[in-house]
Amino acid sequence: MAGTRPPGGNPNSLSARDVRAVLHPYTNLRTHETAGPLVITRGEGVRVFDDAGRDYIEGMAGLWCCALGFSETRLADAAARQMRELPFYHLFGGKSHPPAIELSERLLAMAPAPFARVFFANSGSEAVDTAVKLCWYANNALGRPRKKKIIARQKAYHGITFAAASATGLQPFHQGFDLPVAGFLHTDCPHHYRFAEPGESEEAFASRLAESLEALILREDPDTVAAFIAEPIMGAGGVLVPPATYFEKVQQVLKKYDVLFIADEVITGFGRTGQAFATQTFDLAPDTMSLAKSLTSAYMPLSAVMIPEFMYQAIAEISKEWGIFGHGFTYTGHPVSTAVGLKVLEIYERDNVFENAARLGEQFQAHIARFADHPLVGEVRGRGLIGACELVANKATGQAFDPASAVGKYALARMKANGLICRAIGDSLALCPPLITSQDELGEIFTRYGKSLDETLEWVRREGLLAA
Ligand SMILES: Cc1ncc(COP(=O)(O)O)c(C=O)c1O
Repeated sequence: MAGTRPPGGNPNSLSARDVRAVLHPYTNLRTHETAGPLVITRGEGVRVFDDAGRDYIEGMAGLWCCALGFSETRLADAAARQMRELPFYHLFGGKSHPPAIELSERLLAMAPAPFARVFFANSGSEAVDTAVKLCWYANNALGRPRKKKIIARQKAYHGITFAAASATGLQPFHQGFDLPVAGFLHTDCPHHYRFAEPGESEEAFASRLAESLEALILREDPDTVAAFIAEPIMGAGGVLVPPATYFEKVQQVLKKYDVLFIADEVITGFGRTGQAFATQTFDLAPDTMSLAKSLTSAYMPLSAVMIPEFMYQAIAEISKEWGIFGHGFTYTGHPVSTAVGLKVLEIYERDNVFENAARLGEQFQAHIARFADHPLVGEVRGRGLIGACELVANKATGQAFDPASAVGKYALARMKANGLICRAIGDSLALCPPLITSQDELGEIFTRYGKSLDETLEWVRREGLLAA
């Protein structure tokens, strides 16, 4: 997709300099050399501005993260204050500092399950790697050293570090990296629209998937399976909302075989699904939980893993025996990140952000549901302030477009031309706007979204891509 300005022409343009210097994540690098970047220079509320001064509504809150929008000065002030007071200190060897202590206390107090300790990292991926390593470490401490395998789901996204990418169930993050590493398994993707048998209800589909999970655990030997990791709503896999009764049934299986449940709330945590955590929305009882993104509204890199008492006790006891708990990052609990995290949680509470987001989430779902009638849309899905429409070649049968037609990519380009940043996951067009989006801005998002879908439909018809 074309950037703000292709890099040809002025060799000193930001665009040309980007192409010469920056290695971009999640990007077709060859295409990028000619298309160039979209250079964003400024943000204001839910809008961002490119280097030509064009503004866009950020319908994805960046990467599902910028919950408080792009110009929250209270966060800038909190960061500046902390930079002046204590710009860096660490938590190694028993050292500590006030923001890490206060944020840990606050997270434990608001957590949706009885967690006992908080471990800080810098990214969602590091949090997931940490959660996996803690399960392994705890199982060694608990005298069950064979219980190490991790079960994730096809189409899951848990990040790109070794364990996180191995848990991820999307091929582009494995291909060429020799991943997943041994010991990471993938069970069925709970996407009813795509994977249910004809006529199969959501409940029957959920039962079938829980049985398939149980069969996998039995095949592998339950004594070798440490944990199951799941996003309550699968984000980067396409905004896949679990079918009715899915987690209830899956959790029964996990309990039966003493398999730990890691809830990856990196996207869904902090008000996204209508409650503070999706653990509440979907009635989950996780053993550990990974958090990131909206923990700081993405103003500073910070993630967290919450662990329960039994895990803490096992880890603490063995660290006494081995002399050290050998895990931690230089920036674990970084004072500026944790100070910003604290201010974010204060703003969430003081400004009733979750309550407002829950109300706005209902309007969001009403808006997006209207596209169910659109000739291009096969499925509308979502919860709270996250959702997607999946575009299909045949609405009646759900037949997908040939990926080579790149229909999602075309729609994404129309969204951008219409001043809306959204995300194409294949042919699913995702939205995940900042929690502070106003009603008017929400209306504008869907006006631009709808216009872009209509323009895509015209193009699809012109190109003859609809299935008969
Ligand atoms: C559910 C989930 N887990 C983990 C990650 C990885 O987070 P990060 O990109 O901060 O490493 C992501 C990123 O989108 C995510 O959506």
